[in-house]
Amino acid sequence: MRTNTLAAVETLQESEEAKAPRARWSPARRLASSLFRRYSWLPPAASLISFVVLGAALAIELNLSYKFAAATAVAVTSFVWGYWMQAVRRRLFPPLAHLHRRQYAATWDLLAGSPEEACAAVAGCKNDEAELRASAAVTVRNLMELACIRGSDQVLEVGCGVGRIGREIATHCSTWTGADMSMKMLGHASARLCGIANVHLARLHSVGLSEFENNSFDVVYFTNMLMHLDEMDRWQYVEEALRVLRPDGRIFMDIIDIESDAGWIMFRHDAGRYKHLERPPYMPRFSTAAELTVYLERAGFEKIQTHRRSPLVIVTAVKSCMNKQQTVSAP
Ligand SMILES: C[S@@+](CC[C@H](N)C(=O)[O-])C[C@H]1O[C@@H](n2cnc3c(N)ncnc32)[C@H](O)[C@@H]1O
Repeated sequence: MRTNTLAAVETLQESEEAKAPRARWSPARRLASSLFRRYSWLPPAASLISFVVLGAALAIELNLSYKFAAATAVAVTSFVWGYWMQAVRRRLFPPLAHLHRRQYAATWDLLAGSPEEACAAVAGCKNDEAELRASAAVTVRNLMELACIRGSDQVLEVGCGVGRIGREIATHCSTWTGADMSMKMLGHASARLCGIANVHLARLHSVGLSEFENNSFDVVYFTNMLMHLDEMDRWQYVEEALRVLRPDGRIFMDIIDIESDAGWIMFRHDAGRYKHLERPPYMPRFSTAAELTVYLERAGFEKIQTHRRSPLVIVTAVKSCMNKQQTVSAP
């Protein structure tokens, strides 16, 4: 979502420099935006007052410069009012204030009501196949390089959405399984991916991977999804990934890196934007390589590596050959 952010991550990775000039404008825009959100009556009231003043200036035949000033005020306040109305109408994502963060299935079902909404939620793009596929390019490159996906691999994506990444990865591996808690997302994925023989979809009924057997995948990856989860649920998925991976299997996780400059700009932007607003349950939560590394170490993964791909940090690891069953070392 340009989960909100959601989705902007790939664009950001490619055009961080292009974003820098915009950041310079953000304090003024943030101020205007928070003012208008707090006092939503302000633009129409200012317009009304300037209309009354203009009417009075015309009625009592004030000199020309007063009339001109009043007319200018009408033009400016009407423009601001119109701009404000448009900005409010353009809001893509519902606030879902009645849901809390851990109501994942309900939240994402509501965000994926139609294919258009689902595409906006996973990639911030239109329901356009070419655009959706192009939006996957950076992540697919990262996965191929860092999870070393091979033709014989059985691959699991947790939080697969509409199969944006899976459609590309399926062409490079033996089987690709997409798992998600949202039935709506899985419905759109099924429509998009039907006819691709090595694709499987699975509904997750709760946090965890209880639907899958021990030692059943060569690669498990989480992309563009851990940032929407509560921290303890992130841990639970790491623990479960260890169980379902075969010995020597690889895990890949990405998250928005609050330690990167671009990640910090996004965090500050969200903090300003939502200062006086209810924070939606799908709003991304930023993190660090250290957090993900702790989970991987504690779960018993080996060869843990951090890859900085601003604004993301990617952490990869391998399930040890010795680790035939899930083992969680006590802290
Ligand atoms: C922003 S979308 C990303 C989808 C996909 N990974 C991509 O990059 O196109 C996040 C996905 O995670 C799923 N999701 C959210 N919380 C989840 C959870 N606790 N367990 C499994 N999937 C979850 C949502 O339904 C949604 O499909």
